[in-house]
Amino acid sequence: MMEQARNLKKMMQPPQDSAIRVLTVTSAKGGVGKSSVAVNLAIALSRRGKRPLIVDTDFGLANIDVMLGVKPKYDLYSVVKDRVDVREAVVSGLYGVQFISGGSGVEELLNLGDHDLQRIIRNLMCLDDIADCIIFDTGAGITENILRLICASHETLLVTTPEPTSFMDAYALVKIVGKRDIRPSIQLVVNRAETDREAEAAMEGFIRIAGKYTGMTIHPLGYILRDDNMVRAVKLQVPLLISYPNSKAAYNFDRLAASFLQSPVAEAPGMKGFIKRLFGRVGESEA
Ligand SMILES: Nc1ncnc2c1ncn2[C@@H]1O[C@H](COP(=O)(O)OP(=O)(O)OP(=O)(O)O)[C@@H](O)[C@H]1O
Ligand SMILES: [Mg+2]
Repeated sequence: MMEQARNLKKMMQPPQDSAIRVLTVTSAKGGVGKSSVAVNLAIALSRRGKRPLIVDTDFGLANIDVMLGVKPKYDLYSVVKDRVDVREAVVSGLYGVQFISGGSGVEELLNLGDHDLQRIIRNLMCLDDIADCIIFDTGAGITENILRLICASHETLLVTTPEPTSFMDAYALVKIVGKRDIRPSIQLVVNRAETDREAEAAMEGFIRIAGKYTGMTIHPLGYILRDDNMVRAVKLQVPLLISYPNSKAAYNFDRLAASFLQSPVAEAPGMKGFIKRLFGRVGESEA
């Protein structure tokens, strides 16, 4: 028993520090293109020599499984319930990206306790031998777990469309995180713009207004134009970058990846810093 406990403890010890860049894709409003951005940005990054790992935290809906057309054997639910090592839940070889499913139809995961969440995060941060970038795809809404993830990540990709409803929800999110002790680094992605001009005006407008009323500095990362091939790609269950590599949205994703790689990592709290930011004092005492 003692030996078992010791082994478990050892397994939970993170490496001194992890070089993984942690990115959260969020939006507040649903259906604006978070999962599309997560998947296609990851593929574009892998084409530029990176080793991204997408983690679907939109528990219960299995968005990314559907987009990639896979049915993973294990998912985060198996990690929590069956104590499968997080490595076993990694699906690799999919268009150059690695992926961990959030599981489908699993309400229990929505209310994960700190202990299980910490175990998952710790294990994820130990994956720096296979991944250099973790992309958390979040679900719609502003939940406490999503807010913590945003504040703990190196950076957050805030996705919005140019529509006022999406803008208002994104703005509400910025306002909430702006009041937190740890102010996250937010990079704006405008999705489904009709023209380059509309996208640029939307970015400029959002950043100016959010800056004026919340004091938050938001960086313009880039935009994706509206492209019907995006919808076709979802129906085909083959990501746009693979199914329509010459489409205008595919071009936008490649530019987005370039811009992401050029942007300096906001702050590198490292593995311990990440856990501390995520769990506050609980993580601090266990880290
Ligand atoms: N640039 C675009 N042009 C046209 N359609 C798009 C674009 N981006 C996303 N879509 C379509 O919008 C729909 C929703 O996209 P997606 O699932 O990525 O949104 P989401 O924000 O992840 O949604 P949820 O909040 O449900 O997780 C999909 O059918 C997708 O193909
Ligand atoms: Mg989604």
